Amino acid sequence: METLKIFAPATVSNVTCGFDILGFPVEAPGDIMTFRKTENKEIRITRISGADSIPLETNRNIAGVVSRKMLEDNNMPFGLEIELDKGIVPGSGIGSSGASAAGTAFAVNVLLKKKYTEKELVPYAMLGEMSASGTRHADNVAPAIYGGFILIRSYDPLDIIRLDYPDDLYCTLFHPLVEIKTRDARDILKKTLALDAAIKQWGNVAGLVTGLLKKDYDLIARSMEDVVAEPVRSLLIPDYHKLKNAALENGALGCGISGSGPSVFALMRGEKTAEKVKNAMVKAYRDTGIDFNAYVSKIATDGVKIIS
Ligand code: HSE
Repeated sequence: METLKIFAPATVSNVTCGFDILGFPVEAPGDIMTFRKTENKEIRITRISGADSIPLETNRNIAGVVSRKMLEDNNMPFGLEIELDKGIVPGSGIGSSGASAAGTAFAVNVLLKKKYTEKELVPYAMLGEMSASGTRHADNVAPAIYGGFILIRSYDPLDIIRLDYPDDLYCTLFHPLVEIKTRDARDILKKTLALDAAIKQWGNVAGLVTGLLKKDYDLIARSMEDVVAEPVRSLLIPDYHKLKNAALENGALGCGISGSGPSVFALMRGEKTAEKVKNAMVKAYRDTGIDFNAYVSKIATDGVKIIS
C-alpha cells in the first residue's frame, strides 16, 4: 500500500503584535511524519520518537484526531499507520502541535488525491490545535500549510492572506529548554483589552504588514511591539529580557516571544546579522544554567513538504 513521508516545519506565530493572526514557517527544525495506507479501516499511531509526552492513542494524538476526521468525512476509504519523528520539542512555542496537525492534514489530503484546497485543510488542522490546547488558533497551522508570511484576517469566515515580505528577512530562534503549555499561557492572559492598548496593537499590526509589503525595515522594526501578550507571558520565560536586549543590541529589527513561548524569536535583515544575534543570545544565556537550542533560518517559502 501507498506510503508518504513528509516534513512539517516549525512555525513562529503571533510575530509580536499579531496575536493569533500572524505567523511564518522556518526551514528547520521540523517533524518527519510517515503515513502508510492500510486496507483495514483503522488509524493507528505505530511509533513516536523525540517526545515522550505525546500519547499513542489515536483519539488523544493530534495526528490521530485530524486524520480520523478527514477520513470519516470521506467514508473511511482506507486506514492509516502513522509514524512520528518529532524534531520540534512539545511545549517549545514553535508550533510543535501545529506541525503535527498541519503535516497530517497535508498528508491525508495527498492520500485523498488532493481533494481539498489549502484553505480547506486549515480547519481540519485547527481541530488538532483544539485537541492539544483547547483553542482553534490557526497562526501555526496556516503558515505550516501555506508557507511564507501568513495573515489570518478573519476566523469566521476564515480569510487567509499570504503576505509579500523582503527576501533577505531572517529569523533567529532561541529555545530555552523549559516547557510552557499553550493552554496555560493563554489562561493567564487578560480577556479584555483597554482601548489605549488596542489602539497601539492594531497600529503596530498595520505597521508591520505595511513594512513587510513595502520592504521598509525601519517600519518593520518600529512595529514589532506587543502590548497584549508579552507583558504577561514574558514573566514565564527565564531571563527573557536578557535575550531580547541581546538581540536588539546586535542588530535585530525586533524580538519577541514565539507563539506562547518559551522560545524567543528575532527578525533580521540578512543571514550575517541573524548569526550575530544568535551568538549574542547564546552568550547572554550561558550563565543561566538553563539548556537551550538556537537556530537561524530564512522565513520558509514552503510549508509542509513531501520527502518521499
Ligand atoms: N497564537 C497562539 C498563542 C499560538 O499565542 O496562544 C500558540 O502557539
